[in-house]
Amino acid sequence: MLRAMPGHDLRTAFVTGASMGIGAALAHALARAGIHVVIAARREQELRAVAEAIEQAGGRATPVVVDVSNPVAITAAVQRCDAELGGLDLVVANAGVARQRHSAKLQWDDCADMLGVNVVGATATLVAAIPGMIERGRGQLVGVSSIAAYRGLPKLAVYSASKAYLSSLLDALRVDLEPKGLCVTEVRPGYVRTAMNEGAGKLPFELQADEAAQAILDAIVARKALHAFPLPIAAAMRSMSALPRSLWQPLARRFV
Ligand SMILES: NC(=O)c1ccc[n+]([C@@H]2O[C@H](COP(=O)([O-])OP(=O)(O)OC[C@H]3O[C@@H](n4cnc5c(N)ncnc54)[C@H](OP(=O)(O)O)[C@@H]3O)[C@@H](O)[C@H]2O)c1
Repeated sequence: MLRAMPGHDLRTAFVTGASMGIGAALAHALARAGIHVVIAARREQELRAVAEAIEQAGGRATPVVVDVSNPVAITAAVQRCDAELGGLDLVVANAGVARQRHSAKLQWDDCADMLGVNVVGATATLVAAIPGMIERGRGQLVGVSSIAAYRGLPKLAVYSASKAYLSSLLDALRVDLEPKGLCVTEVRPGYVRTAMNEGAGKLPFELQADEAAQAILDAIVARKALHAFPLPIAAAMRSMSALPRSLWQPLARRFV
């Protein structure tokens, strides 16, 4: 069992988007720390493979097939696991999709799944966990945002906006829920080598999925409000967010 803080032991976790990439790596890291981890995503076979690998390594994992963009389904899945596992101590809204397209060519089809997964899915996942955590007076909610939340990025208008939404949601949840005993952690990874970046060449300061998972786990254990990483790109993006529009726009267009 992971001892995040005295009196705040993490026993159970629910991680969305855990069939591959950062979510699967985080599920492995949590299981290695002794946490029974529920791994949620749409693809059953991939989920089962992750669960088997975790169990073979001596951990405990329960696969749950669910499409987070269906708020009724993800709400039912979180609340069922909350009841069956005697309370979820940690819920991580990690599932996400990114589509890169110049705004001049944007169509609704490019936007719909990003809003469905990154906005509706993340919100429904976190909100579903709140009643049980409030009842117990403890629990940790985690949202996997992105450094793209700092500023509207070229060719990533909807993705940036969806992550800015999630960041703002977590900020407000923290204000409301900390006095009730809950902890709310936001993580903003930089580039991570996963299927999301398939085909991309070497990316600035890119991390492997297990390195990103370790950074997220460290933020969870430290009960951080916000952890943006790795430092060089997080610091650069933070300073971009302070740039006046007159400087940001021409700079951003150079990358289009
Ligand atoms: N990779 C990066 O450079 C990077 C950087 C910053 C932030 N992030 C964020 O980190 C998170 C994880 O990204 P990743 O790089 O690990 O992506 P990934 O390798 O593409 O994995 C995405 C995960 O989300 C799941 N997912 C997608 N749509 C879903 C849906 N409708 N319902 C349930 N699960 C769904 C996928 O599983 P199924 O297909 O089986 O459903 C998969 O497990 C995302 O929120 C992403 O925005 C990534």
